Amino acid sequence: MTEIRSTLEEKLRERSAKMAVLGLGYVGLPLAAVFAEAGFEVLGIDPDERKIEAIAKGESYIGDIESEQVARLVKAGKLRASSDFAELADIDVVSICVPTPLRKTGDPDLAYIVSATEKLAEQLHPGMVIVLESTTYPGTTRELVLDLLTRGNDLQVGKDFFLAFSPERVDPGRTDWTTVNMPKVVGGITPACSEVAAAWYSAALETVIPVSSAEVAEMAKLLENTFRMVNIGLVNELALMCNRLGVDVWEVIDAAASKPFGFMKFTPGPGLGGHCIPIDPLYLSWKMKSLNYTARFIELASEVNTNMPRHVVTLTLEALNEQGKPLNGSKVLVLGAAYKPDIDDMRESPALDVIALLREKKADVSYHDPYVPRIEHEDWGLDSVADYLKAAKAADAVIIITNHTAYDYPAVLKQSKLIVDTRNALGSATKDDPKVVRL
Ligand SMILES: NC(=O)c1ccc[n+]([C@@H]2O[C@H](COP(=O)([O-])OP(=O)(O)OC[C@H]3O[C@@H](n4cnc5c(N)ncnc54)[C@H](O)[C@@H]3O)[C@@H](O)[C@H]2O)c1
Repeated sequence: MTEIRSTLEEKLRERSAKMAVLGLGYVGLPLAAVFAEAGFEVLGIDPDERKIEAIAKGESYIGDIESEQVARLVKAGKLRASSDFAELADIDVVSICVPTPLRKTGDPDLAYIVSATEKLAEQLHPGMVIVLESTTYPGTTRELVLDLLTRGNDLQVGKDFFLAFSPERVDPGRTDWTTVNMPKVVGGITPACSEVAAAWYSAALETVIPVSSAEVAEMAKLLENTFRMVNIGLVNELALMCNRLGVDVWEVIDAAASKPFGFMKFTPGPGLGGHCIPIDPLYLSWKMKSLNYTARFIELASEVNTNMPRHVVTLTLEALNEQGKPLNGSKVLVLGAAYKPDIDDMRESPALDVIALLREKKADVSYHDPYVPRIEHEDWGLDSVADYLKAAKAADAVIIITNHTAYDYPAVLKQSKLIVDTRNALGSATKDDPKVVRL
């Protein structure tokens, strides 16, 4: 073992290694908190000054992290935040947790990874461990990050510094599986990189799963998310088929789920949402296109899932038509806007598409979400109505997009003239209720 590596491993054992997290968002802040709790000094770097100020004041802006924890860690000198990359000069371990969105064209936007890595490269020094956690296409760590880090210096990966990929699997709002007990897959550029990165994570996380390369770790994350996307696409198509057959898709799925093996339950909905499932598989299909290969399951599932908001609007239009009302001019209340229950995350939420399509059809749209006070999207903005039951009573149609547990569903049912339930929030008891349309 080289001297550089043994010094580093000693620092990890003694908890004297200094860590930095680039990007203090949904992924970065919980990761920083876990390592700070484990006794390490953690520096968060983020260009967003509001986040830096919040951390300095001991305030959390992420649902899964309590302000009390941030305040305690900051006070203990274990956690601080800055926007100055020069502070990376004496850091031993760096986790990159920056966004990986899509461009308008649907291609990967790696601008955040590039900009963070370029600034990190200026501070690269012997003994540094760097782990990319942002979800991306297979090959990014080796082809892009390694290249950016080693331009203009003669440091050798696996010897002078260590580079690995480790996918983040956080599920915002979840309390049984969190950053600390979620098994962590780690794959390095070289075997030494895998070992050093695994040793680093093992210092604070319960289960670390080393794999043989960065590419295996990158692809494992894409398999996980593609698996979900394709299965959601499958049940969404099942919902479309059941709609034509006049069969209750929810009952079908529950019946199939009674099989004790060989079946995993997925439920249909108004479309995909969140930062991961609608986006990550498209990173893989983009990469495959560059190798002249069409990722057919991804493309097909994406097509089915992308059309779900339109299907929801069609169901609403047809149901209003049954009542002799045109969608044009009808009052429609969208109940729940976040992409999943009990959180405030609006990223890629299907509510955005449903509202946009309803507006396009000249419906008089309002929405309510206890966690999302205002939506700003492209050329429109809306405030959440104050009283959802009053708004439901006034509406010609209510569309349940997000099944937040805070909603009083029996009261919604009582107040509304027509409900399109895309989540089976009202349950099977409303199956034959003429004013309820279930997906
Ligand atoms: N949110 C999730 O549930 C989740 C789950 C698994 C994986 N991921 C992946 O993790 C990555 C981060 O996602 P997130 O949800 O934490 O995003 P986020 O938008 O919540 O946070 C990213 C942070 O990075 C900061 N940032 C932007 N450019 C930067 C730069 N050059 N240097 C340092 N910081 C910079 C932003 O200001 C922001 O605070 C993405 O690749 C995402 O796909 C997210």
